[in-house]
Amino acid sequence: ASSDQIAPALLGWYDACARVLPWRAPPGAPPPDPYRVWLSEVMLQQTTVAAVKGYFAAFTRRWPTVTALAAADEAEVMAAWAGLGYYARARNLLACAREVAARGGAFPDSEAELRVLPGLGAYTAAAVAAIAFGRRAVVVDANVERVVARLFAIGDALPGARPAIRVAAEAITPDRRAGDFAQAMMDLGATICTARAPRCLLCPLSGPCAARAGGEPERYPVKAAK
Ligand code: ADE
Repeated sequence: ASSDQIAPALLGWYDACARVLPWRAPPGAPPPDPYRVWLSEVMLQQTTVAAVKGYFAAFTRRWPTVTALAAADEAEVMAAWAGLGYYARARNLLACAREVAARGGAFPDSEAELRVLPGLGAYTAAAVAAIAFGRRAVVVDANVERVVARLFAIGDALPGARPAIRVAAEAITPDRRAGDFAQAMMDLGATICTARAPRCLLCPLSGPCAARAGGEPERYPVKAAK
């Protein structure tokens, strides 16, 4: 199977099976508020969806817009963040909110401009560009890395395999619905293409998957020798 069959198969699955999450628009709907996308993506760095849900609800209730968040005291934001961990994220969150508020409250809509805001790494900038602005961006987190390594049976060990994984991810990213595509890859990695026991019988990409064809999908991605 060729790379250009992957996005349509995955998006069809997403239309039917997307997880319903508070920061998401339904599949195919107009993009959600960039503030909510950005806030959720910062919270989801190093933290599970289950742990983030309550914090996301509390933050958006208390600070419904980026301008409202920008006006908060650092101590209030740190207290509201307590329990999520990695507190540098909370300090960067407030610094970023203040920069966006200073630009009139609108997030920039390109990956390159997002990338230079406080706390936005390559992953977060790509995720916000794709999910909030519909930009074609290559969004690779640990779940996506695993899905791609399996689809193409990329057998080099991490982290050396990362450049090949990026090239392959870039090749399958569609021009349209890049945000849904990114979130579909995340959902697939979280619920079907799991690290230990992939559920290939339920997978919309089992047909083109090279690791599945080889019989040992759980071997990928190969971990660096310790
Ligand atoms: N993990 C990080 N971002 C996510 C998203 N938008 N949907 C699901 N899981 C995620």
